[in-house]
Amino acid sequence: MKRREFMETTLGVAAGALVGCDACTSAASTPPQVEVAASSSLSAAPASPVDLEVVLTAAPDRIPLLPGQPTDVLRFSASIAKGARDALVQPASGYLGPTLRVKRGQRVRVRFNNNVGEDSIVHWHGLYVSEANDGHPRHSVASGKQYLYDFQVDNPAGTYWYHPHPDHRTGVQVYAGLAGLLVITDDDERRIGLPDGDQDISLVLQDRSFDANNQLSYSPNPMTGFLGDRMLVNGQLPQTREVRSGPHRLRILNGSNSRIYKLGWSNGSPLVVIGTDGGLLAAPQQRTEIALAPAQRIELWANFGADLGNDVWLESHAFDDPSPAMGMGMGMMGRGGAGAPGVPQGAPLRIQRFVASGDGRQSRVPDRLVSHSIPSAAEVSNTKTFATRMQMMGWLLNDRSFEMQGVAANEHVRLGTVEEWEFVNPNGMMPMPHPIHVHGRQFRIIDRQPGPGFASLRQALFDEGWLDTFLLLPGDKVRIRVRFDRYAGMFLYHCHNLEHEDLGMMRNYLVEAG
Ligand code: C2O
Ligand code: CU
Ligand code: CU
Repeated sequence: MKRREFMETTLGVAAGALVGCDACTSAASTPPQVEVAASSSLSAAPASPVDLEVVLTAAPDRIPLLPGQPTDVLRFSASIAKGARDALVQPASGYLGPTLRVKRGQRVRVRFNNNVGEDSIVHWHGLYVSEANDGHPRHSVASGKQYLYDFQVDNPAGTYWYHPHPDHRTGVQVYAGLAGLLVITDDDERRIGLPDGDQDISLVLQDRSFDANNQLSYSPNPMTGFLGDRMLVNGQLPQTREVRSGPHRLRILNGSNSRIYKLGWSNGSPLVVIGTDGGLLAAPQQRTEIALAPAQRIELWANFGADLGNDVWLESHAFDDPSPAMGMGMGMMGRGGAGAPGVPQGAPLRIQRFVASGDGRQSRVPDRLVSHSIPSAAEVSNTKTFATRMQMMGWLLNDRSFEMQGVAANEHVRLGTVEEWEFVNPNGMMPMPHPIHVHGRQFRIIDRQPGPGFASLRQALFDEGWLDTFLLLPGDKVRIRVRFDRYAGMFLYHCHNLEHEDLGMMRNYLVEAG
């Protein structure tokens, strides 16, 4: 298929139809039928009573984002059917869904109503849940239908998130506004006494493009994915954030489809890292800059008014992106559709300004955070290798594209074992960074053999702590160690550049008991 055709049929036109079309509105008004693919999720349901029951609806909405005309978006909204009211934190503005705040050990039921006007399903990114609760595209439900999730929260305290995961349509649905944070707390974290309340701040970083009528435009490039021309924080244009002088816990999610950030403070202060995708680090670590790939989270200790001064910006610093697609891609990107050409990958960006005043609660950075039990080399019983490749405007993993039920010979895992997976990004004709994500597990990076390019981004990589997503740069060979000790079943691993994912850079792996 020709590139242009592909983009228009798969992404361009459909995006236009999805965001604020008439059909969506009428689909949204049809009362949802209670048809649930939950038979399997119910059979895997935990035995303890339900602590929290949430009704989560994805539907079109129209909200003010830019001066003038409001913007059509898709949006998650939620209500509590059972459990503590403070489990849901509704954002005051912007298009993001509510933040779900849950405790480790809680049994959570989520009744998901799909009213977006096409198939969808919700994935709990980073969570250890059974396959029926994981939001695999094969569990997508039609618009007007419901899906029932029922799982026990089993991850350590940290910052996770939820987003749609239908086949071919994840990029456009996330782009249209469907995403939200899921924050887990636990006793280990409480004992440390990190900043909380209004000194616990989340920033969801996304880039978007708007047309002349303030509507979102989505015209991704099959190589680079989608790169917008506006920085949004928490689903809106970033406003100066007034904070109290004192230490804050800053939870940052890269919720962008394809953009990589190289985070740093405008005054050159070091970033104090306390957590990653899978929760808190063993001990805080300092870096000058940190690369944050799509879907990754990083938690920082930010002492506003003190080390960071009274007026500071969180920025994304420039990095060289030597992908040939960038050079030749600029024109292509600009002509990809109605949208303005995106700001190139690696361009410097100002993200969020913090102005500190008044007195916040004071505390010191803890020396130790939580203990980690990392699987040892002796426990590794199997090694797999996966290579990325680009072919015919599609992205492949070990020469295979996504198949709904397909599991290749090297995609089988025995429950209860530890494996090392080596990902190789051959530096061929189309060198491209790939943020690789494994569902249902948090893993460690054991080794990274760096490729030749991307030096200015590479030096900012943070390969420590528990991760569910890591950045595989061109030429890199990265080895991760994963313990498969929770659930048998079929799960996904894929590139979290959402356009690569939608173009097939996704596969199943099957965990088998016994
Ligand atoms: Cu956040 Cu399969 O994805
Ligand atoms: Cu995931
Ligand atoms: Cu990719």
